[in-house]
Amino acid sequence: PAAYPFEGKHQSGILELAQRASAFVAFTVTSPDRARLQQMLKTLTSTIRYLMTGRGVPYDGMVSTSYENGVLGPDIAPDGLTVTVSVGSSLFDERFGLKSAKPARLRPMDEFPNDVLDRSFCDGDLILQICANNHDTVLHALRILMRATRADLQVRWRKEGFTSPPRPAGTPRNLLGFKDGTANKEVLDSPEVIDQIVWTKGGGDEPAWVEGGSYHVVRLIRMFVEFWDRVSVLEQQRMIGRDRDSGTPLTGSKEFDLPDYRHDPYGDVVPVTAHIRLANPHDGTVDDQRLLRRSFNYSAGTDPNGQLDMGLIFACFNQDLDRQFVTVQKRLIDEPLVDYISPFGGGYFFALPGARDDNDWLGRGML
Ligand code: HEM
Repeated sequence: PAAYPFEGKHQSGILELAQRASAFVAFTVTSPDRARLQQMLKTLTSTIRYLMTGRGVPYDGMVSTSYENGVLGPDIAPDGLTVTVSVGSSLFDERFGLKSAKPARLRPMDEFPNDVLDRSFCDGDLILQICANNHDTVLHALRILMRATRADLQVRWRKEGFTSPPRPAGTPRNLLGFKDGTANKEVLDSPEVIDQIVWTKGGGDEPAWVEGGSYHVVRLIRMFVEFWDRVSVLEQQRMIGRDRDSGTPLTGSKEFDLPDYRHDPYGDVVPVTAHIRLANPHDGTVDDQRLLRRSFNYSAGTDPNGQLDMGLIFACFNQDLDRQFVTVQKRLIDEPLVDYISPFGGGYFFALPGARDDNDWLGRGML
């Protein structure tokens, strides 16, 4: 689509199919006090509203023509832009008096056994997930947003991503050559499942304001593509559990067939250690652990050894970080795929509930 709505119960950039281009930009909040933090969130809200819908000017009293950087020329169209704002656990330290408002599961990202984390590529007080149909639209938005918040937000880390067009049809492919995101259909097809899987509920150990938000996990995962490209297609398919060309589960006949392991208890067709089988055994016991994944490919040049630096910006949304992402990630420890990938960064964030109307702003409930 050409444009997504900004206002709503939930933020955009979560349920929508991933656009072609993205930037994940994590920031340190440098606001000196709570009042300035509040002002920054209001500025962020009005600037995102302006970028996504063309409504409102980004700064009070400042006209958009002098504000613009020209990157999109004189006619600025939304171009499928979504900007999703999520906060990290460090925002809830002593600086802003927000300790009691922290979403219950939020913490610095766990280090899992096969991770080699570069902490300068981890965590952050706040992350912007900027997505659009074209890369220049993403960069335009990033520049306007950073200019509007210069005094309060300092970039901590950043990664830019893209999705493939249908090749030849169906779900986009990741850089291992496999369709990535097929199983999301199971979640997205049902409003009840979305409600049980994606949106966090207030109450219990969660503060009331989290209602309508979602735990937003980002994992930066390098792929050793030179090494992977030397593995036979059959072996690759056994590691993933799906046919490479079509994305069909090896137990099925079409991409969107649900995997069915009832007649394959010993893993003759889909090894019991295959990625999709570990991630979701489809035996009815782990349905509440499903994730809404929204990942992007990245390519960041070449490393000092001349190896291609590319991989996956794995991103997912979940109602309960521990019940869902962490449980699934633990099942994936030591899967055969770990020899071909290396998680090095990312973070646990909480996607704020949406801004309801023109007077509302992102983060209001939390402050
Ligand atoms: C499914 C690749 C990391 C969780 C898949 C599929 C592929 C894939 C090709 C099958 C198509 C689909 O349903 O999307 C990868 C690669 C990864 C990676 C290359 C790393 C570079 C992760 C991580 C998690 C995860 C970190 C979560 C901890 C899942 C889940 C499914 C899945 C839950 C769906 C399983 C199902 O319901 O059948 N992945 N994945 N993946 N992946 Fe990953």
